[in-house]
Amino acid sequence: MRKLFAANWKMHKTRNEAAQTAAELVTLTAAALPTGREVLILPPFTALGEVKEALGTDARFALGAQNFYAQKQGAFTGEISPGMLLDVGATYALTGHSERRHVLGEDDALVGQKTAFGLQAGLRVILCVGEKIEERKAGKLAEVLTRQITAGTKDVPRDVAPEALSVAYEPVWAIGTGEVAGPAEILEAHALVRAQLVALFGQAGNSMRILYGGSVKPDNATEIVGLDNVDGVLVGGASLKADDFSRIVLA
Ligand code: 13P
Repeated sequence: MRKLFAANWKMHKTRNEAAQTAAELVTLTAAALPTGREVLILPPFTALGEVKEALGTDARFALGAQNFYAQKQGAFTGEISPGMLLDVGATYALTGHSERRHVLGEDDALVGQKTAFGLQAGLRVILCVGEKIEERKAGKLAEVLTRQITAGTKDVPRDVAPEALSVAYEPVWAIGTGEVAGPAEILEAHALVRAQLVALFGQAGNSMRILYGGSVKPDNATEIVGLDNVDGVLVGGASLKADDFSRIVLA
């Protein structure tokens, strides 16, 4: 399976800034990208079209969205459908990002609906999971991950194509804090995620990608990407500058 290097730009960048960063990233990485690696940019909705254009037709560079709503169309003010994302050239989308869960109030049930709907609509979905610091301290890591993955995939067909569904493990306490999870913590959590995917999807669970996210930087990326069961990274802050993110992609 190809390792996935995903840039989550969150609520950053105008269209021009996004196009420029994407173009720089392609310039910095296209020639040197090791085989078996794929790059994904998740810009804000307003910049999807510009980033698609900047990425061009190289299949190793993909476009994705940070969010969508689980309906085809209708009276859902402020929302975007998977079909609209596919129309602009996005092939991936996130569900369950920690900021959607904990800042915008999305619960497990909604995350599950969105994951199943997005997959069914033809998007590749990256389901994000992760524990809060108080849950980790209370010894609830396995319980939280099991609950989030079970609920998040509740309505996903058991024969879903494994390349269409990925899980990103992003411990809430490591997001945007500079506090990266250590190798032992990542290994433990990713093994739990893998076991849960195999329990739910059988052998196909071994072919689903598990990404790590949370304060990934150029200087820790090589070690993280080399760990067992780490099939890519989901990067926030350090993905905003093409130079930093290119060093992660090529790490
Ligand atoms: P940081 O890389 O800024 O910690 O953000 C991680 C994240 O939330 C990616 O989705």
